[in-house]
Amino acid sequence: MTAFPTRRLRRLRSTPALRRLVAETDLTARRLVLPVFVKEGITAAQPIATMPGVHQHPLEDVPALVEAAVAAGIGGIMLFGVPSHRDATGSGATDPAGILNRAIEVAARAAVGRLTVQADLCLDEFTDHGHCGVLGADGAVDNDATLEIYARMAVVQARAGADILGLSGMMDGQVAACRAALDTDGRTDVVLLAYSAKYASAFYGPFRDAVESTLTGDRRAYQLDAANAREGVQEALADIDEGADIVMVKPAGTSLDVLTRVRDLSSVPVWAYQVSGEYALIEHAAASGLIDRGRAIGESLLAIRRAGAEVILTYWAIEVAGWLRAGRDLA
Ligand code: PBG
Repeated sequence: MTAFPTRRLRRLRSTPALRRLVAETDLTARRLVLPVFVKEGITAAQPIATMPGVHQHPLEDVPALVEAAVAAGIGGIMLFGVPSHRDATGSGATDPAGILNRAIEVAARAAVGRLTVQADLCLDEFTDHGHCGVLGADGAVDNDATLEIYARMAVVQARAGADILGLSGMMDGQVAACRAALDTDGRTDVVLLAYSAKYASAFYGPFRDAVESTLTGDRRAYQLDAANAREGVQEALADIDEGADIVMVKPAGTSLDVLTRVRDLSSVPVWAYQVSGEYALIEHAAASGLIDRGRAIGESLLAIRRAGAEVILTYWAIEVAGWLRAGRDLA
């Protein structure tokens, strides 16, 4: 007598039609957000060497980028500014004429409600030392002095027309400080996206190139330690208590466990950021012929969705939206 397997889990995998039917996870264009780098003082888009296919854009490109995002059906764009001048307090961040605030204005005007305009709310692009906050006399990032600047930044970004503010600085109390400032300014509808579980990561390397970061040293005194998952969950819960509308985990690919835990406990939407290093790894490996580019991109995004992200920030947002529209399978 042959002993037959009692469970044949392969059955549901036997044809492409069955596999499509039983897929637990999928992706739609509206769940993708495109990060965009806008650089002061350039007249044409400049390629970013470490991120093949990604550019720094002049302000003049922003309306066309918005149109491309709308046409692709993605959920939004996340703006980063690359200023020409930096100083100790990051004053370009709170100047309404600063590059990021101008980019928000132009994007919001172009979007006219068809796309969410999101803005990075952090000082690292604007400080001459490259840290996410201002430094105290001891040379360390001064949490509470930074909060005052973040609060002003929130109001300036909201006045410029941002729908969603991406609080990426990892200062304690940043959500509450920005929320209070926005409420006082009557900006009660502005959404706060807290980069709650943001790990100190080597995978931000190419981004530092993209924003021409001046940082020497690291951000380990404020960003999370890769060893800690429980602490990442605590960060998300604290941000929700402070009034975060959305929480984020980042980098996505190295924090899938944290993403799942946050998703299980969060009362608000949970997003993930597939960061520059995750992008660059796949692009460079594919360019070397080591992996199938399309399938690697699709698989990486599906894994992030499967772990619990409802929306994903990814540099492939527009391209992948095109694949989805064409009905292409992701993995
Ligand atoms: C901080 C910020 C960073 C990223 C997004 N917001 C850099 C950092 O914390 O060092 C990284 C994003 C990426 O690597 O794609 N403004």
